[in-house]
Amino acid sequence: MSNRMWGGRFASGPAEIMEEINASIGFDKRLAPQDIRGSLAHVAMLGKAGILPSADVATIEDGLKAVREEIEGGGFVFKRELEDIHMSVESRLTEIVGTAAGRLHTARSRNDQVATDMKLWVRDTLDSLDAQAADLQQALAEKALQHAATVMPGFTHLQSAQPVTFGHHCLAYVEMLARDRGRFRDARARLNECPLGAAALAGTSFPIDRHATAEALGFDRPTANSLDSVADRDFALEALAAASICAVHLSRFAEELVVWTSAQFNFVKLSDGYTTGSSIMPQKRNPDAAELVRAKSGRVIGALTGLLIVMKGLPLAYSKDMQEDKEGTFDALQALSLCLAAMTGMVRDLEPNADVLARAAGSGYATATDLADWLVRELGLPFREAHHVTGRLVGAASAKGIGLEELSLLEMQEAEPRITDTVYAVLGVENSVSSRTSYGGTAPDNVRTQATRWLALLKAPSASA
Ligand code: ARG
Repeated sequence: MSNRMWGGRFASGPAEIMEEINASIGFDKRLAPQDIRGSLAHVAMLGKAGILPSADVATIEDGLKAVREEIEGGGFVFKRELEDIHMSVESRLTEIVGTAAGRLHTARSRNDQVATDMKLWVRDTLDSLDAQAADLQQALAEKALQHAATVMPGFTHLQSAQPVTFGHHCLAYVEMLARDRGRFRDARARLNECPLGAAALAGTSFPIDRHATAEALGFDRPTANSLDSVADRDFALEALAAASICAVHLSRFAEELVVWTSAQFNFVKLSDGYTTGSSIMPQKRNPDAAELVRAKSGRVIGALTGLLIVMKGLPLAYSKDMQEDKEGTFDALQALSLCLAAMTGMVRDLEPNADVLARAAGSGYATATDLADWLVRELGLPFREAHHVTGRLVGAASAKGIGLEELSLLEMQEAEPRITDTVYAVLGVENSVSSRTSYGGTAPDNVRTQATRWLALLKAPSASA
């Protein structure tokens, strides 16, 4: 049998493999709520514009609501021969209300329909990702406030660099997430133009009211060019790009958690809720959730790359290639949502090992810069020379296998005779962090101020990104 929806000029139906490669219903059925919402807006507009008689409009509206109930109730049977969600809904509508259903597709096409459905789905998803990222910011800002003065080593090249505070480290991710949220919001604002009514590619000769459908669906305005409306998926690309950047942020933090929870570092403890045991090694406590957050960034970036490649060679307007936008976009944005939720859980339960962190913060000559700064401040040495003197002292201490603070004053004075015993104060880790009071620096007072500022912003959501 040829296709009921478009088979007029076909003598026979598609080959089995054709049907398999062509069908998207297996994955676009999740667009059912958006599809029905779009159809309800479209048919109401057709009625108001006098294109359809109001009796048909009412019949179609009731029918669409009945279809929606069937889908929500799980009683709807999806059939591969109906290809996609658009034809599945319309076909069932025909079964329920009869010939009036055939009038729904007046002045539209699956091309503007699918673009509208996808935009609605991506828009909702961006909103919920934004809210989830805010939850993670909240969890991080709370940890930051609690640990504003908990010292830990700061790294560059994964070598001990200068001491920082645990709270400062948490707030670094709060800032990254703020930019991620800004990107989600930017993407949302740019996508919020309604393609419905662009029809197949050229617009329509019916006197439709595109402003009305745009408004009914919560869009700011209708898209201004019918070709562009059905031909681009930049809104999905932009969402995936924003998601990829966020996933990379989460992945870096996840990597830190994996390293920090190793026995060799032992910087933090993850809760039982976010770790697993080993079936053979009883001592193990594996950071699987963090590892999976790190790994899932791969599929998010993969979806972005995949869709960029799908789109790059397509002439205007619609090509069936664009049906391949869905699985990757759905999968990637869902994966990011799961990662945000898992990270939020891990952070809430996370306990830094303050003693271990303090010991580690002082090792590796992490206060060498403080010593150099002291030489500049107290003795007026040019920084380059102070750097050199400090280097000699680090060399002397390391040759003896001791810390800088364990060198005697005499040993210090061999490198620079004017050094006095007030130098020892800056060699302490606590002193080092509390001296970093420059704006954005790691001093506990700064961290407290920033954490408090974030917690207040997060309480007033409209101002928080
Ligand atoms: N399932 C299609 C997609 O996802 C819907 C649009 C089909 N349009 C067409 N002219 N065949 O892209």
